[in-house]
Amino acid sequence: MSQKLERVKDKVAFITGAGSGIGKATALMLAQEGAKVAVSDINLATVETTRDEILAFGGQATAYHQDVVNEETWQSISQDILSKWEKLDILVNNAGIALTGNCEDMSLENWRKVLSINLDGVFLGLKYCVTAMKKGSGGSIINIASAAGIKALAGGGAYCASKTAVQMLSRCVALEVAGDNIRVNSVSPGGVITAIWQSTDFWQKLKDKKINDDAFWQAMAKPVPLKRFAQAEEIAQAILYLASDESKFVTGTDLVIDGGYRA
Ligand SMILES: NC(=O)c1ccc[n+]([C@@H]2O[C@H](COP(=O)([O-])OP(=O)(O)OC[C@H]3O[C@@H](n4cnc5c(N)ncnc54)[C@H](O)[C@@H]3O)[C@@H](O)[C@H]2O)c1
Repeated sequence: MSQKLERVKDKVAFITGAGSGIGKATALMLAQEGAKVAVSDINLATVETTRDEILAFGGQATAYHQDVVNEETWQSISQDILSKWEKLDILVNNAGIALTGNCEDMSLENWRKVLSINLDGVFLGLKYCVTAMKKGSGGSIINIASAAGIKALAGGGAYCASKTAVQMLSRCVALEVAGDNIRVNSVSPGGVITAIWQSTDFWQKLKDKKINDDAFWQAMAKPVPLKRFAQAEEIAQAILYLASDESKFVTGTDLVIDGGYRA
């Protein structure tokens, strides 16, 4: 955990997919830094745990059950945040899934599922939270893309395509809302040690070889110059920077945090 500098003190943040991994680490970090934090996830139990952990250290948090592809939830949650805390300063469009498969093998259903959660979900977040932010004095939106949106991955067509699209969507909307003092950036992590990998073919193949978790992360990190995957907190640090006023001249960019993988 970072030193408490209160870089987002009294800002109101909304983080999706905050029951696990990068979203949870971000919610805890922003709350530690003094933000009021609304967290959502399709898994209510896990996001309530995130909320409770924030309340336990004296932070402010509220939890919502949300499927990010459901438009009504975006309307109701953004309204609820405005009613409760009177503004919305930060949105972290983080919820995502990773289903893998070569194009011949992947079902249309799974293709659509990846695009729908990873891309439609981000679009809806932008649509409703930009409106909410315009009621205040501006804001910062951070969309979680991926290094896989830059570097192709065999078997990753749906995931990589969704993340490339998130990077470009972020830049387009950054241009649209710059005049309203709303900044839009994406963060593109390389490999991060989180549960998302368990739904991929990579995980399944190595598990079939009876490889333990540590050996899996080491094997996956072989192409990474720093020779490891990141911890979720290392990505949260970048999100915190983009959320705070320290990045107030930064918009329309993609921040890659990948241990040198893309280089
Ligand atoms: N872990 C990595 O290596 C890595 C690398 C690059 C980008 N990312 C991206 O980071 C983001 C967070 O992933 P993570 O690695 O922390 O994985 P994770 O599986 O730990 O967390 C993802 C969270 O999103 C939630 N979620 C899934 N579908 C949802 C939906 N329809 N509506 C609401 N919530 C939903 C899950 O319940 C989970 O809590 C994702 O967008 C992912 O693509 C991860």
